Amino acid sequence: MILGIESSCDETAAAICNDGSILSSIVSSQQIHKDFGGVVPEVASREHERLLNHSVEKALDEAEIALSDLDGIGVTQGPGLAGTLLTGVCFAKGLSQSLNIPILGINHLEAHIYANFLTDPTLTYPLVCLLVSGGHTQLWLVKEMADYELLGESRDDAAGEAFDKGARILGLDYPGGPAIEKMAHNGDCKAIDFPRAFYKEESLEFSFSGLKTSLLYFMEKKDKSVILADVAASYQQAILDVLVYKLATAVKRKDVRTCVIAGGVAANNELRSMVKKTIGDEISVLYPEAALCTDNAAMVAYLSELYMEKGFTSPIDFDVSPNLKVV
Ligand code: KG4
Ligand code: ZN
Repeated sequence: MILGIESSCDETAAAICNDGSILSSIVSSQQIHKDFGGVVPEVASREHERLLNHSVEKALDEAEIALSDLDGIGVTQGPGLAGTLLTGVCFAKGLSQSLNIPILGINHLEAHIYANFLTDPTLTYPLVCLLVSGGHTQLWLVKEMADYELLGESRDDAAGEAFDKGARILGLDYPGGPAIEKMAHNGDCKAIDFPRAFYKEESLEFSFSGLKTSLLYFMEKKDKSVILADVAASYQQAILDVLVYKLATAVKRKDVRTCVIAGGVAANNELRSMVKKTIGDEISVLYPEAALCTDNAAMVAYLSELYMEKGFTSPIDFDVSPNLKVV
């Protein structure tokens, strides 16, 4: 019975995993940041502090277990905001010591990838994963557990960041991804031809900062007849075209039969259907349900259980690692 704790950014989350099944998964998305149009690290740490105890209690309640039933704790060690990671890790260490059970520091990005195994435990290696979150855009070859090869990543902004910054330019809410997706729904994605960096090139690298600047200039110069839904749809399409093209290229180059997507941007319905349409004929395509794409503790608890079953634990004095890499 493993408790997972996640506090790498602005989601305070706790979940219970037992034998690969999630018994409960509690996510409190901190609403306080909406007033600032983005996450304020210090405020996020204090919110975690306020919400953690209650989230863990709720996770135990929903799983219908007691603290004394726990066999181990997995907690996000990094990457993420130093202060928010520290809040979660200190809380987890306190619990681990008082209950005298092992603790394990978990890589948040690896947990995102493994949300796919949580969704379908029969997934087979090797596979290619497009990992698209607020802080990262990466293509991974997952050869087997703990054996990963980075095939490419963004040189500047992450795809989620492009959504968030784009939404701010368009005057939409934070987080920007869901806001742009909603606004794009009735828009014409061909209305405006935004730039697509490295599109249809061999390179598996990404770049989204030019796109964001191009949106900024467009909005400064646009005339009144331009419809915001068309802008949102065209902007979203520029991001997704590149993501899907690079994923398809990686799948072909590595000759794998399976591909998955992970991270907050993987919750985007247009991305999900584009990936299925473009790659899904002979290759099996999988993505987790939306709640397992955005930050959650179920993926942390699940990956912790996999590692703990293999005998991995962390020393009690392990540190948070805001820039933790997968390899
Ligand atoms: O994985 P995640 O929850 O947190 C990080 O690890 O960063 O990803 C958050 C990112 C944000 O940039 C958010 O705008 C984006 O995921 N996102 C989306 C959608 N839902 C969340 N982007 C596009 N479409 C969505 N539906
Ligand atoms: Zn994340």
